[in-house]
Amino acid sequence: FRKYSAYPAVPIEGRTWPDNRIEAAPVWCSVDLRDGNQALPVPMSVEEKVAMFKLLVSVGFKEIEVGFPSASATEFAFVRRLVEEQLIPDDVTIQVLTQAREHLIRRSFEAISGAANAIVHMYNSTSTLQRDVVFRKSREEIKAIAVEGTHLCRQLKDESGSAGIRFEYSPESFTGTELDYALEVCHAVMEAWGASADNPVILNLPSTVEMSLPNMYADRIEWFCRNIMDRGAAIISVHAHNDRGTAVATAELALLAGADRIEGALFGNGERCGNMDMVTMALNLFTQGVDSGLDFSDLPYIREVYRRCTRMDVHPRHPYAGDLVYTAFSGSHQDAISKGMKAHGSHGDGLWDVPYLPIDPGDVGCSYEAIVRINSQSGKGGVAFVLEKDYGIQIPKWMQPDFAWEVQALADRTGEELSPQRIHELFLDGFVRLR
Ligand code: KIV
Ligand code: ZN
Repeated sequence: FRKYSAYPAVPIEGRTWPDNRIEAAPVWCSVDLRDGNQALPVPMSVEEKVAMFKLLVSVGFKEIEVGFPSASATEFAFVRRLVEEQLIPDDVTIQVLTQAREHLIRRSFEAISGAANAIVHMYNSTSTLQRDVVFRKSREEIKAIAVEGTHLCRQLKDESGSAGIRFEYSPESFTGTELDYALEVCHAVMEAWGASADNPVILNLPSTVEMSLPNMYADRIEWFCRNIMDRGAAIISVHAHNDRGTAVATAELALLAGADRIEGALFGNGERCGNMDMVTMALNLFTQGVDSGLDFSDLPYIREVYRRCTRMDVHPRHPYAGDLVYTAFSGSHQDAISKGMKAHGSHGDGLWDVPYLPIDPGDVGCSYEAIVRINSQSGKGGVAFVLEKDYGIQIPKWMQPDFAWEVQALADRTGEELSPQRIHELFLDGFVRLR
């Protein structure tokens, strides 16, 4: 076995997060146009970024990281276009990422000049590994980079005279950083910014590389929230990557543990295994009765724009959004769905209670049409359901097993899925005309 490092457990007495409930949605920040974009084989053009930005606004994001304007001419041009063509609604704040380096910070402020509301998001890596191997700098030197960068941001904000500029700091690779040191750097940044309840710093604690279980990350967030010098002067933000496949769980548990804000991307786009998937997390909240504030009522449209702009696919089994997630292939599932749909509303207190369908597909703009497909795995309930739904034919119970057997045998022989039309033909041929 090769050894991999996980971060040590935090000794935290009387942790509260396992008993907490998510009562309200966090502040969401989309990083589709930055983290998502930088991870694309072909990054978005300015036009594609504009289309994606409009989509994100229509979904309801109020904070949108629009790029890394000091990194390329396209990135800079896009931010300028948003500002100059007044494409940013009054209630939306754009966010720009910058490293903690003087010329990059200055260029980022140039990019947002004239924007009514903007967040300057500055980061530097604080992990043991990066300090030792990449930067070869001591803890003090790394902290000084963060503090000097923050001072410059504060100065440029003052010079701009814009009250609408806010500040976010990320101790990048937080998951590989000693917790007390991450707190020490964040405290120094808060001081340098002059953080207060009226002028809070967004402290974004990224799971830059997902290295441990979601519960261990949640412990770190609870520890951080408890030990920060002035909780009211900081907005605790989470930016979870999906290296272990658990970014959504990480963000959900972090929210239980006290985080205020969540960064993520549609369908989990982002570096390597992606960022926390906004669609899944928001709809998870929705199914628990929490209004996410995001509108995913037309997922097919959102998916189409996403595909067009990013040239990425959405996995057919992607939670809530995949092509196959409202489809049942097995007979027993089809039978249960068919019965559930008929009985829907009569059981319990009006809750959605159709077996095997965790949500009403209609709530996300998907139709019932695709729910039952008939192939060699289908059973009598599904076959009867299709005939009734598409042709209004109610086949008697005694006939169902024989007919289903015919359908299954044909599907097995051909190895194909059978369309409702084919099933209807088979029914007419075998069970009506010949008898
Ligand atoms: O994953 C990460 O740490 C980042 C930072 C720049 C916030 O994307
Ligand atoms: Zn990231």
